[in-house]
Amino acid sequence: MTIATAIAHPNIALVKYWGKRDETLMLPAAGSLSLTLDAFPTTTTVRTSADLTADELVLNGETQTSDAFLRVTRFLDLVRGMAGSTAHAQVTSHNEAPTGAGLASSASGFAALAVAAAAAYGLDLDRAALSRLARRGSGSAARSLVDGVSVWHAGDGDDTSFAEPVDAPEMSMIIVTVDAAQKAVSSREAMRRSALTSPFYPAWVTSTELSLTAMLEACRDLDFSRIGRITETHAMRMHAVIQACDPPIRYLSPTSIAVFDAIAALRADGVEAYGTADAGPNVAVISRPADAARVAKALEPFGSVRIVGAGPGARLVSDGTGDGE
Ligand code: DP6
Repeated sequence: MTIATAIAHPNIALVKYWGKRDETLMLPAAGSLSLTLDAFPTTTTVRTSADLTADELVLNGETQTSDAFLRVTRFLDLVRGMAGSTAHAQVTSHNEAPTGAGLASSASGFAALAVAAAAAYGLDLDRAALSRLARRGSGSAARSLVDGVSVWHAGDGDDTSFAEPVDAPEMSMIIVTVDAAQKAVSSREAMRRSALTSPFYPAWVTSTELSLTAMLEACRDLDFSRIGRITETHAMRMHAVIQACDPPIRYLSPTSIAVFDAIAALRADGVEAYGTADAGPNVAVISRPADAARVAKALEPFGSVRIVGAGPGARLVSDGTGDGE
């Protein structure tokens, strides 16, 4: 029996990943860039044993048997294939973010699982290889292997599509949770529908490549204002692509739109804040650290507000062998 525990944090993309060019290898249509947070961690323990007759998944105290379980067991098959093992595993995971509400719980979840499962199955992988492995579970998880700001390269194939660190100015992120309910359409399904039915999808892919190049320049120049403008414009473009699906999908709620209006009002008042939103109604706002408290105060009427900053990439917290329970 082998047991390993890992902790990972979600990341919020400033240049989004939205669409795959290869669903099996989980290769993105374009590269993306994100901030790994110092909040909402996922802690995952993987215990492998020759005595188990099947994999097991307990998520936030509840045994899972359907979608989440199937994704995890398929991921473990990949790890077993790499390790030359046939042992099943018990996976226990605890997530501090509301699962499925667009706060990137699949990113922290698969980043923690990749690190814990690699250790439990005895694989010795460097950070790029762990990022590639996490990508196979959920694309955005590739970025949660990295501290702070990271770029996930679209790459030429499996070997070159991983995330690595990018120097960037210090930023705060204000997370405005307007609704913590599970989203109606998963991002995986909505990405598929966007590629198949949204007439704007090809333009989205080429404009994302341009946004990423511009964002990497802005990070290199430590130009917070430019980072912010690219972030908000790019987020609006992603939601435009999604809303143009057939049948349409709309993740932003009237409250989300009101948050974007409040952000624009802050800017008109001289406070530089810029918003983004993932596949859900919650809004993440970036500001300079000195402005974060003022931004948070202005956004309090719209939901629960939390100020977060740059956090660490996924890491092992224990890799004992057999006596760790
Ligand atoms: C809107 O990584 O959850 O958060 O690869 O299918 O598991 P799969 O999708 P996922 O999608 C994240 C989409 C996003 C944008 C982003 O994080 O870049």
